Amino acid sequence: MKRREFLKGMAASSAGVAASTMIPFGGKALAGRKKKDIGMVKSVKVQCISETSWFDNATLGKDIKAAGGINTNQYDVVYNQENLGGYAALIEVEALDGKKTKYLLDTGWSNDWMDYVFNKDGIDKMLKSKEIDTLIVSHDHIDHYWGIESTLKHQPGIKIYMPGGSMEKSFQLLKGADFKKPQVKNSVPHTGELIVTKVNKIYQPQTGMAIVYFDAPATLQVRGENVVYFNVKGKGIVTVTGCCHPGVLTLINYARRNFAGGEKNYGCYGGLHISVFENWDPKFDDIIAGVKHYDMTKVACNHCTGWIWAEKAKAAGIPIVMGTDKNKSYKKVGTLAKAKTSNVYIGNGDSVMF
Ligand SMILES: [Fe+2]
Ligand SMILES: [Fe+2]
Repeated sequence: MKRREFLKGMAASSAGVAASTMIPFGGKALAGRKKKDIGMVKSVKVQCISETSWFDNATLGKDIKAAGGINTNQYDVVYNQENLGGYAALIEVEALDGKKTKYLLDTGWSNDWMDYVFNKDGIDKMLKSKEIDTLIVSHDHIDHYWGIESTLKHQPGIKIYMPGGSMEKSFQLLKGADFKKPQVKNSVPHTGELIVTKVNKIYQPQTGMAIVYFDAPATLQVRGENVVYFNVKGKGIVTVTGCCHPGVLTLINYARRNFAGGEKNYGCYGGLHISVFENWDPKFDDIIAGVKHYDMTKVACNHCTGWIWAEKAKAAGIPIVMGTDKNKSYKKVGTLAKAKTSNVYIGNGDSVMF
């Protein structure tokens, strides 16, 4: 397969197609269903611990191609260990009474890289002291989940929300496993509460916050994604994602149809999975038009959004929250971040308030 075809395949599995083919809530019709009042929070702060899942697109592309392409099982691909980073974010929620609660969203890929970024932001100490006592795994893709040991080694008993569609090997990894090929291991078995999310259910770790499982196909045979929603008082719904495989428009629409007050979309944070490999397809223009239509106030994106999409979205008038140059002080910087001409990504070390 030519690289161009490979990239096309990547694009085909991203936002546009996934949004049109996915079956939210197992296909059950939601029309006529009463909207759920999830309550409200005062504010939400999302800090980007790391959005650099890998440092070089071409290297990852080569590894996946060598294993048979983008529909190969992720546990059958041999990845260049030098190229691995990981995705993780710290979510700080302020309740209406002022109480603050911290959640970890995802746990990255390379344990070395995650140890480094966790130490840089004091996440390791927050885990040890149980200041963070909950990990929300968006999905079990390599770059969001395989660094699980980096979290468990500080708090084996952490409460975990795990997407129901996760692979059998991912559950094995949680219990402790050492898969030599590809090189992935977890030597600290999870001992705490495990909540395996299912369709047709809204999970509420606290008032004003909801976790919803979407049964959507993703690349490398991964399936399903947990999405985190907040209802911020006086502002509206904030959607926080890992990769956004179900498609950003699907996720916004879900909130509109299912949450009381969901028609007001204030903002979003995370990977939006659009021009992942910096390719362009006319359907990405449609996503710009769609996002614009929902009139959000803060669009904070990074990771698999695609720099090119974020640039074009900003030019089209979408309120992209700008990042800083902080990420350049990290011990490793991705090839795209090095070459970038603007800060349309919320990069490593940046944060956004909703
Ligand atoms: Fe990702
Ligand atoms: Fe993903």
